[in-house]
Amino acid sequence: MLLLLIGVNSYESAQPPSGTPSLREEASQAGILIGTAVRSDQLSEQAYASTLAREFNMIEAEDAMKWWAVRPARDTFDFGQADRIVDFAQAHGMQVRGHTLVWGRSNPSWVTEYRDPQALHSVLQDHIRKVAGHFRGKVFAWDVVNEAFDEKGRLRSTIWYDQPGIGFAGQSTKYIEQAFGWAHEADPDALLFYNDAEGEGMNAKSDAIYAMVKDFRSRGVPIDGVGLQIHIFDRQPDLAGIEANIARFTSLRVQVHITEMDVALPTNTEGTVSDSKDLEKQAEIYRAVARICVNHPGCTAIQTWGFTDKYSWIRSTTKGAKGVALLFDRDYRPKPAYFGLRSALSEVRGLPRSAAK
Ligand code: XIL
Repeated sequence: MLLLLIGVNSYESAQPPSGTPSLREEASQAGILIGTAVRSDQLSEQAYASTLAREFNMIEAEDAMKWWAVRPARDTFDFGQADRIVDFAQAHGMQVRGHTLVWGRSNPSWVTEYRDPQALHSVLQDHIRKVAGHFRGKVFAWDVVNEAFDEKGRLRSTIWYDQPGIGFAGQSTKYIEQAFGWAHEADPDALLFYNDAEGEGMNAKSDAIYAMVKDFRSRGVPIDGVGLQIHIFDRQPDLAGIEANIARFTSLRVQVHITEMDVALPTNTEGTVSDSKDLEKQAEIYRAVARICVNHPGCTAIQTWGFTDKYSWIRSTTKGAKGVALLFDRDYRPKPAYFGLRSALSEVRGLPRSAAK
């Protein structure tokens, strides 16, 4: 109840009440990283940049390290946008997560048009070497492979699975293993993650990811962590399932990062929340998920997919009229969600936790 009152009162002001700690201050007390996805174009917007630097100690490029951004053509690497994000992080004492080296989406057409498995294999190897090599020492953790499984726990058909996988036997995670090996060669100090959506709770997809990670760990494949995206579209998420899943992954001695959290709410046609009580429900969900993470020492980072409702991918999706999914409103005022998340961070201090390799 106290939380709700604090949340409602503070929602009116553009900044957290002066004298109260920021998210990043609470997070460093708790020994955890607090991050957000960022868009390089917005870094020149003063309110965006100052909120980002004040509240977060980790950032990830929302799009700027994806294939279509860094590989406009086969022989062209363009790190301009991504370097701006890395520079911002370095200027403000933030860690950088890299996202993502291998994904079935966000690929430029010159690569999806490839029909020769051997050539595609070389293109991927070269890409991982050059991109992870470029950011060596700057990116502390990579989402090496993103969203490789479908909801039934089967490997998705993508250019990477279908073509470099041709030489591999049957339903094999060999192409994923190979990508981790290449990433490790390019940057032996980076933490290497497998990242996915909708495998947050206990289900066929998370079972398949678990089996793969267990297999990789037993054979010494260089995987250090699992990213759980946690895009929530349901106001009653399965929190017990998320907890059980984080517990089983951390018991394999891999780290868990919450990588893309947002909590979409129904909106009216102007894009504002339909029922203001939902903002309190949203705060509870952020608090509950953060609390699960901080209670597991192996869960070492919580990241949201953007931080202001002004710039959120949720607005552009087609899952009904949904939006307002993040911690700050369009005017950079902290929402109840902000206070919910922060209160979970403040509850836990000094648990043994290490985000290092
Ligand atoms: C999204 C970005 O937010 C959008 O800007 C872009 O147009 C499409 O990709 N899972 C992921 C992210 O791993 O890379 C996606 O990001 C959201 C879903």
